[in-house]
Amino acid sequence: MAVNLLLGLQWGDEGKGKIVDVLTQEYDIIARFQGGPNAGHTLEFNGIKHVLHTIPSGIFHESAINIVGNGVVIDPIIFKKEIEALKKFDIDLKKRLLISRKAHLILPTHRLLDAASETSKGKAKIGSTLKGIGPTYMDKTGRNGLRVGDIELDDFKERYRNLTDKHEEMISHYNVEIQYNLAELEAEFFEAIEVLKSLQFIDSEEYIHQAIRNNKKILAEGAQGSLLDIDFGTYPFVTSSNTTAAGACTGLGVAPTQIGDVLGIFKAYTTRVGSGPFPTELFDETGETMGRVGKEFGATTGRKRRCGWLDLVALRYAVQINGVTQLMMMKADVLSGFDTLKVCTAYLYKGREIKHLPYNIEEQNVTPIYTEMKGWAQDLTTIKDHNKLPQELLNYIDFLEKELEVPITLVSVGPDRTQTIHRK
Ligand code: GDP
Ligand code: IMO
Ligand code: MG
Repeated sequence: MAVNLLLGLQWGDEGKGKIVDVLTQEYDIIARFQGGPNAGHTLEFNGIKHVLHTIPSGIFHESAINIVGNGVVIDPIIFKKEIEALKKFDIDLKKRLLISRKAHLILPTHRLLDAASETSKGKAKIGSTLKGIGPTYMDKTGRNGLRVGDIELDDFKERYRNLTDKHEEMISHYNVEIQYNLAELEAEFFEAIEVLKSLQFIDSEEYIHQAIRNNKKILAEGAQGSLLDIDFGTYPFVTSSNTTAAGACTGLGVAPTQIGDVLGIFKAYTTRVGSGPFPTELFDETGETMGRVGKEFGATTGRKRRCGWLDLVALRYAVQINGVTQLMMMKADVLSGFDTLKVCTAYLYKGREIKHLPYNIEEQNVTPIYTEMKGWAQDLTTIKDHNKLPQELLNYIDFLEKELEVPITLVSVGPDRTQTIHRK
């Protein structure tokens, strides 16, 4: 049985959490493959709104096993808080939540390094979530990191000490003032390590291989979005992992030949949180309206998300890099009420019209070229049937499918599980 992938095609926050939750009933295993607590995946059902950061979004379904893969970076302190927030749901986490021994640990000093790095960049800062993601992946590729499996070793504390000492030395080299009380941070860290230890650690690549052999259905859950990918995103304004399809192979130990469907999630418009180029960004009333109606505030940091029209140049790029086989369009309801919708279909780049994403997409290099479409006034949030969607929205969907050459198999019309319309 193949492994299906679900990933974000824009700058994150496309609605991945909601769709993983909606689809989990079709799967035996949900496995997160990269990122860490920089992610905030929101789920809504039965009047409950829940935000997950590290724990996969299939956790509310009794039938599914949830795996935190080797490509993920775990902050035990945030993980402990996530577990505590799940207590009231009475989920058997010992059975249903499995952690890869090869996942790397975010130490308190990784967070301090993140803060030092961002502060030292001044105006050029990335707009990081300050969860220690960059420094932790740097230690991973620099071959200095600590992994979940190391917790089981007798000399874990010694390894921790060595790395932390090194980090403190590094922090002192940044020319910035970072206030911290390491003793307090460490006490919290080691308390959280005990909670982590209460869960099952596994050799996840072996577990997943056996599951594939046993015909289990597996969905790999991505974090962030393709335009935040370390290789293919808007570097340096990106995260530090491969958020694209290849990241699922390295982040779970799944071979490319074992990948089946690639489900690409996108918003009917575009948002971005943090710094970096965003060609279709709106600075006017229209952008404000999208943000207000779409409640565009970060699920992890609470920061206001920047909003703009749908960018098909960027979306086409993401579809290609990931080999998307099905598209899922989120937040269509947020576009209700605009007389005219704009879709960017090409860029004006050095005086010429181009349809691919060039190396530089800063404002001074590209100007979006828009196609205008008629909008719709109806509220979509109670519509259950595809045939009841307004004709203007069906035209919008039709246009996107033609431009992107991939079918849109799901349209989301609200944050709740039930506000989901499947298309053939
Ligand atoms: P993720 O990081 O990709 O899981 O997305 P986030 O949870 O960060 O952000 C998506 C936000 O949009 C959340 O607040 C969701 O509850 C909400 N949401 C998801 N789908 C829809 C939708 O179709 N319509 C509306 N209005 N909100 C949605
Ligand atoms: P989910 O999974 C949106 C952004 C940050 C910043 C950049 C680098 O919820 O879609 P980092 O903390 O990784 O060093 O930040 O990436 N970013 C996200 N934006 N959604 C996310 O995750 C994000 N994770 C990181 O805002 O611009
Ligand atoms: Mg999010």
